[in-house]
Amino acid sequence: MAFLKHRFFQKPRAFALALTALAAPALASPALAEDLRIGLITPPPHQWTIAANHLAAELSKETDGRLSLAVFPSGQLGNEAQMLQQLQSGALDLAFLTVGELTSRDETFGILTAPWLVDTGEQAAKLLEGPTATALQDRLGALGLHGLGYGMAGMRIVLLAKPLDDGGTVAERKIRTVPLAQELDFWTRAGAAPTPLPLPELFDAYTNGQIDGMQLDLEGTFNNRYHNYSAVVLDTRHMIFPMVAVASARKWQSYSEEDRALITRLVTTETARIRAAYPQIDADYRVKLVEAGASVVQAGPEIFGDAVTGWYEAWREKTPLLVQLEAEAKALKE
Ligand code: BEZ
Repeated sequence: MAFLKHRFFQKPRAFALALTALAAPALASPALAEDLRIGLITPPPHQWTIAANHLAAELSKETDGRLSLAVFPSGQLGNEAQMLQQLQSGALDLAFLTVGELTSRDETFGILTAPWLVDTGEQAAKLLEGPTATALQDRLGALGLHGLGYGMAGMRIVLLAKPLDDGGTVAERKIRTVPLAQELDFWTRAGAAPTPLPLPELFDAYTNGQIDGMQLDLEGTFNNRYHNYSAVVLDTRHMIFPMVAVASARKWQSYSEEDRALITRLVTTETARIRAAYPQIDADYRVKLVEAGASVVQAGPEIFGDAVTGWYEAWREKTPLLVQLEAEAKALKE
């Protein structure tokens, strides 16, 4: 240890000062600026995209611009399968995902789309805040994701290009769905031909007669003027359509504890706002559709034949967590 005998090291005060001087630039420099990215499939006017833009503005405001968030709507980064891969590799930081792709990876997520699980959007919002939905997020870790809570879209309804006879069902119709095992199974049990299509392909498919109808929501119906191509808008509200706010688990580990807390707080605020807003959004768009002359008709499980009973029998066995979710939903209805 000859170097310790050097004059410099024998003067502890000089040594300490030198060390402080070396460390000073690192301590004084501000935390590094970071550019984050969030991907989603909804178009710019959709509530999820509005929420993502608001999140970006808040993140920048709260960090004085140290953290920025670029928003990529309309599937600009690819479809949800591609975004999920980017999240897993750390190429993407955040996403607002439907349960479609998540259910392809883990069927349990599809329990949230059980038919007639709840009666209203308010109950849907509460169910997504409940213990089963919250615990379900723990399964995201196995997919390389970190869960940040649930948003939702409007309750699902059905549009048909040709009318329904009195007492008729949706059997024999080619209906657009999302590619989600539980949803495909439900429509198959109803005797229909479910045809998975992503949102951006829907307009062309419907207007050129490739499909006879679709499962969507009141907001999407009005904003795309799908009622103009439909004989009937069946207001079934038969299914919740959850959104899952996620972060890349790989990227999450790289953020400071303070940044993780901030992102969690801001995303929690946005998703809560979305959940709270949708019951009124559904109500407002129903009024708009009626005013626009759409044939909006109330409809219940009968238009699906006996699909509901068979569906629950099958999926309680395949995804037992459904039973717990049903019990929670039942309590919300009382
Ligand atoms: C859909 O695919 O139907 C959909 C996706 C995101 C938000 C709302 C609807």
